[in-house]
Amino acid sequence: MQIDIFTLFPDWFGWFQSQRHVRNAIAAGSELRYIDYRATTPLSGAQVDDTPFGGGAGMVLRVDVVDIAMRTHYGIDPVELASQRRVIALTPGGRMLDDALVDELAAEPALTLLCGRYEGFDERIVEHFASDQISIGRYVLAGGELAAMVICDAVLRKLPGALGDAESAVEESFSTALGGAPEYPHYTRPADYRGWPVPEILLSGHHARIHEWRLAQSQARARAQAAVGGSDSEGAGGDGAPA
Ligand code: 6GU
Repeated sequence: MQIDIFTLFPDWFGWFQSQRHVRNAIAAGSELRYIDYRATTPLSGAQVDDTPFGGGAGMVLRVDVVDIAMRTHYGIDPVELASQRRVIALTPGGRMLDDALVDELAAEPALTLLCGRYEGFDERIVEHFASDQISIGRYVLAGGELAAMVICDAVLRKLPGALGDAESAVEESFSTALGGAPEYPHYTRPADYRGWPVPEILLSGHHARIHEWRLAQSQARARAQAAVGGSDSEGAGGDGAPA
């Protein structure tokens, strides 16, 4: 998978890229590229943003700056690009990221992530250059960079070879293997700590019954979460639309 990230802060991603599963993904052939809007801005003083028409607080990322950054990187009109690869504008009002969307993105050969800053994007960027808008939750971040890292983290760990054990991304929280439910609880040594014992079934060596127990635990957690209007966005009344 190739992921291109357009940002005003490319060096923020150095730390991100040092994580083991990200390094593994890169060693297995994935590629992360960072493109700085400022490197190609046609404006003086490395300007990339401007005050909003109609007034209001904050600054807006300019459409001409993003056009030139994308055109320079890809050598084509960015309007054409969105039909060739997923171009994702990171915005709090976008489609909510969940496990199903992560799977969908992990199946793509290439992604482009557009990070906005300040009050966000000139709407024409979203309308003409992006194929998707994605949000990582119903709150506002100062920019798209952290959201881009969240998406890359979640997507790259799904790729073969990113995790030590190829199985470990299959039966985990919210996966289809668990019917979208949260993951069952895990325990390791010591088997008894301060009088808190590990559930006996896990020490039984009876794999079929352990599997059954785990699925039941996962289902119980899903019910508990639904009861408090938990992480399920429908349960919380959310539909991914901005407030
Ligand atoms: Cl993708 N961007 C920003 N700026 N804020 C967010 C977000 C994205 N997702 C949730 N909050």
